[in-house]
Amino acid sequence: MKNRVLATREILPGEGLQRLSESAELVAWPGAAKPAPADLAAIAPGVSGVLALGNDPVDAALMDAAGPSLRVIALASMGFDNVDRVAAAERGIVVTHTPRVLAETTADLTFALILAARRRIGAASASLADGSWELFRMRDYLGLDVHGATLGLVGYGQIGRAVARRAHGFGMHVIHHDPYAPDDDLSTSVGLAALLADSDVVSLHVPLTDETRHLISARELAAMKPTATLVSTSRGGVVDEEALLDAVREGRLHSAGLDVFEREPMGTELSPLVAEPHIVTLPHIGSATEATRAAMVDLAVDNILDVLAERPARTPLPG
Ligand code: DGY
Repeated sequence: MKNRVLATREILPGEGLQRLSESAELVAWPGAAKPAPADLAAIAPGVSGVLALGNDPVDAALMDAAGPSLRVIALASMGFDNVDRVAAAERGIVVTHTPRVLAETTADLTFALILAARRRIGAASASLADGSWELFRMRDYLGLDVHGATLGLVGYGQIGRAVARRAHGFGMHVIHHDPYAPDDDLSTSVGLAALLADSDVVSLHVPLTDETRHLISARELAAMKPTATLVSTSRGGVVDEEALLDAVREGRLHSAGLDVFEREPMGTELSPLVAEPHIVTLPHIGSATEATRAAMVDLAVDNILDVLAERPARTPLPG
């Protein structure tokens, strides 16, 4: 009898999904909208695997609804703050994610945010679209240079290093803060206080954990240069958004570029960050290219099939 695997959301069609459907019976939540926990629990009993996106809560209740057959939770995401890892460990369930395959694509988007925030690309482009642009004027949409600036990476894993490589192409000086990553030929390791004080651009590349929640709050923002830009493609919860909004509105911070928010999805009640002229916002699209999303599904499927075949998972969460 085939194993049953629960997909918490519509999964990108392609080779990965095809392989999974051939080896397992797929129980998929229909549609792309976010399922209510009770709806997922109702279709979970007896599944051996769960394939989830990075923002579908996978908690003890869902694990218990699946029951003792559940052996693997495979996230098609790098971030893993949506999974109750303690509950999974207590139940002997392997949890996997999709590092590596999205690092370059997310680094590309990080650079798009750096450029957009410092060069005021969103506001300038909007002036064309709304017909308010009149003519070239010396003073319009003056931004700050990216070339020659110092980039401070908070978190220096695969994505941080991919951003550092791009930064060298832009003539930036790169430093990083990461207790687990020493100096290398791209970047110098410094303490967080030095990074905040010296950087023109601070870019966040840490997972959301108890240790990193609100890592960037009022105190850290006050330690940054008033000409600095804060960029985040990691998780919204790493930044205290109210403090960020205050800092930008009061001119204590030049700008921000955000792909992630504390409250996702926002629905129709938009965060005030979205309307702020010096903050560029994107709807969580860091890994959103066709090739990368397909690679994420593929790796998640490999992880499921490996665990269900009693092989070690390819990319289990770090211990
Ligand atoms: C990730 O891979 O963590 C992305 O943010 C999507 O969840």
